[in-house]
Amino acid sequence: MSSHNVSASLTLHSDSQAATQRIGAAIGRVVNAGQVIALRGELGAGKTTLVQGIAAGMGVEARVTSPTFILVNEYTATEGRRLVHIDAYRLAEDATLADAATFGLADLLVEAGMDGVNVVAIEWAERVATLLPDDILTIAITPCADDPDARTLQLTATGAHSAAIIAQLAP
Ligand SMILES: Nc1ncnc2c1ncn2[C@@H]1O[C@H](COP(=O)(O)OP(=O)(O)O)[C@@H](O)[C@H]1O
Ligand SMILES: [Mg+2]
Repeated sequence: MSSHNVSASLTLHSDSQAATQRIGAAIGRVVNAGQVIALRGELGAGKTTLVQGIAAGMGVEARVTSPTFILVNEYTATEGRRLVHIDAYRLAEDATLADAATFGLADLLVEAGMDGVNVVAIEWAERVATLLPDDILTIAITPCADDPDARTLQLTATGAHSAAIIAQLAP
């Protein structure tokens, strides 16, 4: 079976910033180098919060901050891995390859799949959808109307590596 036929999904609920960080940490503990994680959700949904958890789970000791105005931050993690944290917010919704190339996104994504080192987490991933590989873990974070601290996290895997993460998270 080709990886295109492997898919999985999981819906998780978070009732606090700390709970979202715990979900991220669970992902960070099992993620392998080469994985691309696409984060969707409006401003303030909790994308950066989730990446802080992923970083903690990967053993990153540095403080993870929003790369909105820097576009790319890189962190050294354990087991020879690096976490590359990208925010595509400032890219136009119809971002061209040329736009993304200004900060090397295309190259970063190719490296992610080839060098066996980088885990890539991308906020506003929908803005660079055409650059993403087939096997990605997409996490859409949605606020809940009735509780300002509640979020729904919808995880969707589109390949074997992403599906393996979901399998390890599922209760
Ligand atoms: N359950 C939750 N998960 C994540 N963030 C939450 C939650 N509840 C409240 N928040 C707040 O929402 C904000 C999320 O900010 P941030 O992670 O920077 O969002 P984004 O990167 O999506 O713009 C923070 O101020 C955080 O304290
Ligand atoms: Mg953010």
